Amino acid sequence: MRSHRIAAIGGDGIGPEVIEAGLEALRVCAERDGGFELKVEHFDWGSDYYRRHGVMMPEGGADRLRSFDAIYFGAVGAPDIPDHLTLWGLRLAICQPLDQYANVRPTRILPGITSPLRAVSGPELDWVIVRENSEGEYAGVGGRVHRGLPEEVATDVSMFTRAGVLRIMRYAFRLAQSRPRKLLTVVTKSNAQRHAMVMWDEIAAEVAAEFPDVSWDKMLVDAMTMRMTLRPQTLDTIVATNLHADILSDLAAALAGSLGIAPTANLNPERRTPSMFEPIHGSGFDITGKGIANPVGAFWTASMMLEHLGERPAAERLMRAVERVTADPGLHTPDLGGTATTRQVTEAVCDALRGAND
Ligand SMILES: NC(=O)c1ccc[n+]([C@@H]2O[C@H](COP(=O)([O-])OP(=O)(O)OC[C@H]3O[C@@H](n4cnc5c(N)ncnc54)[C@H](O)[C@@H]3O)[C@@H](O)[C@H]2O)c1
Repeated sequence: MRSHRIAAIGGDGIGPEVIEAGLEALRVCAERDGGFELKVEHFDWGSDYYRRHGVMMPEGGADRLRSFDAIYFGAVGAPDIPDHLTLWGLRLAICQPLDQYANVRPTRILPGITSPLRAVSGPELDWVIVRENSEGEYAGVGGRVHRGLPEEVATDVSMFTRAGVLRIMRYAFRLAQSRPRKLLTVVTKSNAQRHAMVMWDEIAAEVAAEFPDVSWDKMLVDAMTMRMTLRPQTLDTIVATNLHADILSDLAAALAGSLGIAPTANLNPERRTPSMFEPIHGSGFDITGKGIANPVGAFWTASMMLEHLGERPAAERLMRAVERVTADPGLHTPDLGGTATTRQVTEAVCDALRGAND
């Protein structure tokens, strides 16, 4: 029996609700498969922990996660604590020391879900966004001086390293090469940002030479929003900086029907450290505790985690179960225009898994 150790961090708001739902589906996945078990350890880190201890997680928290095979993460953020404290105190405090430098965000239209784009019925929108996850605009370099005084100055300096850009470009080209269309779009802003973004473009062109079978093009981030909206079928794999991809992937999620269905993986592709899997959405303050959070993003994320753990048949079975459930509008949560609850969707996915004959 194969065994995988999972660190589960529900975090804040709807995070614990969707992670609980995801763990339930994962338990059924393991039972149905019969070839592996998941040993799950829970960590109560997040904003409640902060209120009790003054920190989002204990010192050395990220190091405690190193021995796990994967991390399953909900969301972080609370209305009464500044977002930069919660984000830097937990999510980035895990991603950065564990060097999860490739953030991978698949987007497609699941059966039964309607895109807000008039011309899109399904197959026209099938993308994977690769977000640089270790530096760039979120490197954390900067500071504030003369706080509160009229001459106050604040800086956030984008840091792009050749090594960092090389590795994310190589990852993106490899991923594009593994997909049927072998098509990559490199998002940039080198018209206005004439140092780091020009190096970004140059390195993209260098790496492209290593992948002659991948067609690639370059797109300014502002024009990219139009292309995603008006010509989604011209895109396949997309690579962008930490900030650009953060924004574009929320747009992608909305174009695919809802933020509540979108998954993401924070990968250390060389597997030197555990990777972290999380739905894209945040804490969902407006729906916390109502039992209506869409758990599909957490299920899709769980499927990505199973695939990463080498459990591909179980990962595919879970996605088929999710697609069977999304195909039924009676099982749509309110974000998709339905009235179903988190529990109903979770039970339906678990039933579909138990009933799966392949
Ligand atoms: N990775 C993360 O942990 C992460 C990501 C984004 C935002 N945040 C944090 O979350 C908090 C709220 O941020 P926000 O409001 O900008 O983003 P959000 O993703 O929490 O919510 C945006 C909107 O989408 C809806 N939504 C999100 N997930 C849903 C789901 N599963 N089912 C149904 N509806 C869903 C919410 O109800 C809300 O109306 C902030 O503190 C922010 O910093 C954390």
